[in-house]
Amino acid sequence: MAKYPLLQDLDLKGRRVFVRVDFNVPLKDASVTDKNRIEAALPTIQYILEQGGRCILGSHLGRPEGQRNPKYSLEPVGSALSELLNKDVVLADDCVGDGPRTLAQRLRPGEVMLLENLRFHKGEEENSTEFIQKLNELTDVYVSDAFGTLHRAHASTAGLARIAPYAGIGLLVQKELQYLEPLRENPPRPFMLVMGGAKVFDKIALIDHFLDKIDALVIGGAMAYAFLKSGNSPIGKSLCDDKQVALAGRILKSIAVRNIRLILPLDHVIAASMTATETKTTVDVNIPEGMAAFDIGPKTVAAIETALEKIETVFWNGPMGVFEQPAFAKGTFELARIIGASGAKKLAGGGDVAAAIGQSGSGDKFDFISTGGGATLEYLEGKNLPGLKALEILERGVQ
Ligand code: 3PG
Repeated sequence: MAKYPLLQDLDLKGRRVFVRVDFNVPLKDASVTDKNRIEAALPTIQYILEQGGRCILGSHLGRPEGQRNPKYSLEPVGSALSELLNKDVVLADDCVGDGPRTLAQRLRPGEVMLLENLRFHKGEEENSTEFIQKLNELTDVYVSDAFGTLHRAHASTAGLARIAPYAGIGLLVQKELQYLEPLRENPPRPFMLVMGGAKVFDKIALIDHFLDKIDALVIGGAMAYAFLKSGNSPIGKSLCDDKQVALAGRILKSIAVRNIRLILPLDHVIAASMTATETKTTVDVNIPEGMAAFDIGPKTVAAIETALEKIETVFWNGPMGVFEQPAFAKGTFELARIIGASGAKKLAGGGDVAAAIGQSGSGDKFDFISTGGGATLEYLEGKNLPGLKALEILERGVQ
């Protein structure tokens, strides 16, 4: 953290403070269904307002690919933000050009303005100099608080961070680094890594990074079937392809030469298809022909619970099953409960798991749940995220 200038180091009074936030949130019928990321940005916004700054928020939403598209408008986010702040939020109908520039000039200290989706312009993802300059026209001070987007080398993340007159990292990015940096570098042992989700390929770099730091590795979710198949357990018609099996085999070998306790599913919740109404729990690891597994079973949960007794730190990434469907949610929600109840330091993040923990009702038992998806994974894999690199004290200004 010492590597980056902080929000608290910046003089904000009376200044137009451009804050890159990650308001890429799920919407249904033009209203926000999960406000987590908006809530996570509030401390930075409130701090700026208290300091007498003029707060200009920029974010992307979805992937509109450089085209204006009402489906991806940040308007519903503006309403949610206004409710949370209990304050009017000025909505700009674009993020660059005369309209936003005039609104930004008129904005008074202590007021908030939300720009329209940055990705309505191609220059955002292309990190174009012209677009960076246009954003800079709105900026006296730049604050990077979009942790979930730091892995993107875009104009409003890496680009503006380099050229803005003054810049620093916001309170959310500071908090993410405060928890994730020690985890990445030196997790207190014994350390348990819990991996779920569908694809081994997406997780392999993270497992590789932690191989010499973990004491227990739990693998669940659809990726577990590749590991089971690699060990010759019958997996029925569960989701799996040969490439994943080969990757899983490589990880199994790396684990076997180390003193790592591996926990794979011992039982499963199975059905003929994901939409079938009839489900069963297997008695053991074997999945019968014609059936597919969509969740871990109670024996697996019990085995993880026992293993957790000795654990100092646990990091959980990826659901254990198709938790979006009630019939296959129990394994994931039970896991949230037992991790939440354990004496370990409990961290989670990187994709769907934050939503799953939120729905499980155990979210408040965790020490930290990252707001990042891909950014969290890439950070923990040891990658230097472009949005962070641009703000390194020795980096800014060197182009
Ligand atoms: C995320 O949800 O992971 C971030 O907002 C980044 O979104 P992106 O994958 O569309 O760049």
